[in-house]
Formats: sequence, C-alpha cells, structure tokens
Amino acid sequence: METPRAVLFDAYGTLFDVYSVGQLAEQLFPGSGSALSVLWRDKQIEYTRLVTTSSGGEHYQPFWDLTRAGLRYACKRLSLELTPAHEGRLMNQYLELSAFPENQEVLLALKAKGIATGILSNGDPKMLGSVVRSAGLERLLDHQLSIDSVRKYKTHPDAYALGPKALGLEAAQILFVSCNAWDALAATWYGYCTLWVNRYQLPFEELGTQPTRIGSSLRDVLSFF
Ligand code: LAC
Repeated sequence: METPRAVLFDAYGTLFDVYSVGQLAEQLFPGSGSALSVLWRDKQIEYTRLVTTSSGGEHYQPFWDLTRAGLRYACKRLSLELTPAHEGRLMNQYLELSAFPENQEVLLALKAKGIATGILSNGDPKMLGSVVRSAGLERLLDHQLSIDSVRKYKTHPDAYALGPKALGLEAAQILFVSCNAWDALAATWYGYCTLWVNRYQLPFEELGTQPTRIGSSLRDVLSFF
C-alpha cells in the first residue's frame, strides 16, 4: 500500500464529539435523552438518503434543515414537547461541539509531516465553519469540503468525488477517516484508502467489504505514516 498523501475526516462523530447533544437532550427530557439522540441521528441520516436518492435530488435541503427536521420528527415520535427554546438549544449544540481530545495532537503530527488535511462532510459550510472555529481547529485543517456544493449527500459518489477533485489526487492516495461504518464502507467502495475508527466497539457493516484498517481512536491515523 502506498503511503497516503492527504487525510480527509468525516465531521460529526469522527472529529467532533456529538456526546454533548445527548447530554443536553437528557437535561431537557429526563429519561429520554438517549432515545432522542439516537432517533434524531438516525432520522437525520435517513433524510439525507431520502433527498439524495429521490426524484433526481430535487428535494435537497442543507444538512442544517434536515437536522432540524430529524429533531422535530424524533420528538413527535417520542411524544416529547419540543418548544422553540428547546429546539434552539439542541440545534445550537451542532455549532459548538467539542473535538475529541486526541484530535489536536493527531492533526499537529500530520501537519509536521507535511500531509494535507481536511473535512469531507454532509454538514453545510456554515455549520462546518462554526464547529471548526469553536473547536479551535481552523489552522489545522487545509480543506473544509461540504457536499452542499454538489447537493448530494454521502454515500453518493459525487459527494466522495469532492476529495480527489479538491486535493488533485487519486482517491487511493487519500486516507478517509470516519467513525460511521457506513461512511467508511462507501468511501472504500469509492476507492479511498480508509480507516474506520470504531470508538464504540460496534460491528462493521456486513456487506462483504472491509475498510483498509480499523482503529479505536484518531491516533490510529498516524499508523499509516
Ligand atoms: C458527516 C456526518 C455523516 O459529517 O457525520 O458527514
């Protein structure tokens, strides 16, 4: 295997810890925080697939709007009363998530080696800009690639194509890192070198393809160099 020339990271759950979302959900809806955050995330991702795979993508909405729609659905489904104030607070979490503690050191080590770094995310540019700033990572990420420019969510190939296009490299020369197994799988299918960071001891997808490597924290990125 050729040593990768660049590293692209998924955002939510991979670079940024979405745990605080669950914590606030529990504070606002005691006893339902965990169910709400799981259903919210599942619905958010389901909506990305729904708008990308239906009617030639004509129902595209930015990730911020799909995230809010997913939250509203999840609250209705769980019979939780979502006041505008609660909605505002929960949505705001997405703008100020903290980065996982090892991120800075991994990004600094990549910079020291002269490796290009970036994000390739479903998040729209405004959301990504806010969360990157709030985690203090602006200077450690060379690219913030949002699928909003092609209006097709991962796992559409046009979304993954943003990486090679922006970096001027083949997909196989880029290491794509995600904590979402489906994302790591689809990026592998697209042709990237991949690392699935299995933070939560989950099984990988059972569809016959494995990521290039499996790790347990972002530190495992450094094993490629
Ligand atoms: C992203 C979601 C999938 O950042 O976590 O693209």
